[in-house]
Amino acid sequence: EKASRTNVVLVGATGNLAQKYLWKSLFNLYKSINQSEEKYQLKFYGAARNPAHEGDKLLDQILGNIFQFDKSGEDEKVQKFLSNCQYVQLKSEKDYANLCKKINQEAMKESILEYGRIFYLSVPPFAYSRIASYISNHCRPDQESKTWIRVVFEKPFGQDLQTSKDLTNELQRYFDEHQIYLVDHYLGKVGVDQVLQFRMENLPLYEPLWNRDYISRIEIVMKEEENCAERTEFYNSYGVIRDVMQNHLTEILALVCMELPGHQMAYNPSDLLQLKADLLEKVKNLGPDNVIVGQYKDYISHLRQDFKDITKRSNASTFAAVLLQVDNSRWRDVPIIMVAGKELTERTAYVRVVFKDGLYCLNNEVNCPTAEVIFNIQGGSLGISAEVTSKLLPRPILRPDWYSTNPTINSGDSLGVRISDYYVRSPKINPDAYTVVVDAVFKGRQDMFISTKNLILSWTLWTPLVHHADVIIPRLYDKEDNSQTLRFIFHKDQIAFADRFTYDCKNRVKNL
Ligand code: BG6
Repeated sequence: EKASRTNVVLVGATGNLAQKYLWKSLFNLYKSINQSEEKYQLKFYGAARNPAHEGDKLLDQILGNIFQFDKSGEDEKVQKFLSNCQYVQLKSEKDYANLCKKINQEAMKESILEYGRIFYLSVPPFAYSRIASYISNHCRPDQESKTWIRVVFEKPFGQDLQTSKDLTNELQRYFDEHQIYLVDHYLGKVGVDQVLQFRMENLPLYEPLWNRDYISRIEIVMKEEENCAERTEFYNSYGVIRDVMQNHLTEILALVCMELPGHQMAYNPSDLLQLKADLLEKVKNLGPDNVIVGQYKDYISHLRQDFKDITKRSNASTFAAVLLQVDNSRWRDVPIIMVAGKELTERTAYVRVVFKDGLYCLNNEVNCPTAEVIFNIQGGSLGISAEVTSKLLPRPILRPDWYSTNPTINSGDSLGVRISDYYVRSPKINPDAYTVVVDAVFKGRQDMFISTKNLILSWTLWTPLVHHADVIIPRLYDKEDNSQTLRFIFHKDQIAFADRFTYDCKNRVKNL
């Protein structure tokens, strides 16, 4: 049997993302494949624009730095991995042609079946279309062969609806949807994955309650300590809504609110993407009154460091809160509050699903706590806390005198109802998101990426809001005291938000 090889070309191999995440993730992919049989070989080309003699050295140096720490105990694997990595200059169309000619020739010479080709583009988006055309012209596997090709792109995917349409139209000139992989690394996080995991595993218990009759609000929050130093150029034209809401938080919203894949559906990545699309089509923003934007006070000095001659402020938003709704029968009128910001006092991301007050209080308790499900996505401990199950029994309604209001766990043969605990599969492992992303490219798991259709739907939702946010003056907030940033009321609907960690009881929110 012939050995089969996948060629991975990392374009932008010496850049930031590659140094921080991608090379390690490629190494993890290499380790996860059983190399001993030589059945699935992987070969890596690290590409950049430098001429070979420079690039070789640079890549050596970079890989040396990345893997010096990993060598302990894995020395041999690292060495083997590195021996499968080589630098290649990719600048002109001819360079792409030469590389792919070489790949073809090697396969012939070594009598190897080529399993697949991955081009991972970790380069600025303005280069996407040009590189896509080079790849398409010279690097498509022979049509007769079964070799696949997958081309991976990093965000930003446009700045608004029009520019994202322009970009995706360009990509679609060269590749089919099943060859295009648009990365949202949040989909590679265990914390994000467990949203759907939790919903599906607890389907009998929670699904009947996961709707407007029982849920009063949903909060999707991402706080970062990091600021925008050295990134003000990007932030000046993107801002936090484009940077994390249009993509990461919208994906999370979809996972929390979408319909679940039915049991009868044989699982197919496109089902999931379609269910997300159905949901995204129904998400509505509530207009400019329901957007709050802020900018941390030191942004201006970071701006001056990046642009020496700047005198004016900029409207770039580094904090935003937005009120959304999903206009379908499951969610109509349930406020969805999305919050994201830089230079805040902690790094965390979570979803909080709050059930309606009072509905499930036993004995009409006065201080009946709000029942809620929290998905911790980042920061603190991963996992889900559901403070809900013990309070989920409605008061006996039809014949209150027949039943005790306090349910007890049924033991022995007494009459009663037993509600089992919710089921949470605690994550056993917590791989870094890019390792999951790279693995998913290799496995062709397109449900772990953004489809073109969903990208366009998301931009349809966000475009009016980002255009509005671009022109309004943000509130200034202080790194030391951003509690005010995290407490606000949306004017129109008088919906208050206070951060989970400053939120001790519902009255406090009402009193804001
Ligand atoms: C990126 C944004 O997509 O996600 C950054 O551009 C942000 O601004 C980052 O800091 C957060 O990712 P993570 O994995 O560190 O939470």
